[in-house]
Amino acid sequence: MSDASSDGPERPFTVIAIDGPAGSGKSTVGRRLATHLGLEYLDTGAMYRGVTFAALRRGIDPADAEVVARLARQVELTLVDGTLVVDGTDATIEIRGPEVTRAVSIVAANPDVRRELVRRQREWAEQRGGGVLEGRDIGSVVFPDAALKVYLTASPEVRAARRSKEVSDLSYETVAADLARRDALDQGREASPLELADGAVLVDTTDRSIDDLVADLAGMLP
Ligand code: DC
Repeated sequence: MSDASSDGPERPFTVIAIDGPAGSGKSTVGRRLATHLGLEYLDTGAMYRGVTFAALRRGIDPADAEVVARLARQVELTLVDGTLVVDGTDATIEIRGPEVTRAVSIVAANPDVRRELVRRQREWAEQRGGGVLEGRDIGSVVFPDAALKVYLTASPEVRAARRSKEVSDLSYETVAADLARRDALDQGREASPLELADGAVLVDTTDRSIDDLVADLAGMLP
């Protein structure tokens, strides 16, 4: 077994924080940028969805803050290559379904749930020497000292169109209304609301190609 010193110079701890509302392009851009830079990628929204899934499966009311917080501390979440396993059950499909999507904002507004998931997100990055993390509070709370902080945005129409392509069983109108509702909840909550972090670069993805965006962001790294 070789020791770390024989593996050549160590790369410095590099975190890239990508925040923004649903449908702004965070996942697509985040995954592609991570591959481009040889970093791993973490979808933190999937973690909030995983806790919500676990609560619903146990018949726990998502608004029962204490019980949900306890669950968040106990639940096992394994996120690898876009697959989420929650306490041994593959929840990849269900976490994108309407029940979880409806309830996730209330779980994400729970400060004790946030504390636990932020702790896990920091640990995830520390174990990997950094990574690309995507969410709502990465640049503002989880890694305020990230090497690069990006806030992605796009017009509400384009965001709704992107999301309705992903969830083909719902109409554009239903998806657009749900996005508007979640935007208001994510931006209006008291605990770590979605906002432009200090030092974050604001990028509008409405009319941008993914290749162009990834090249642009990679070029912003110090
Ligand atoms: O990105 P998404 O739609 O899968 O996120 C699901 C929910 O979790 C959404 O309501 C915002 C919330 N979230 C959050 O509050 N903080 C994060 N770091 C990631 C997601």
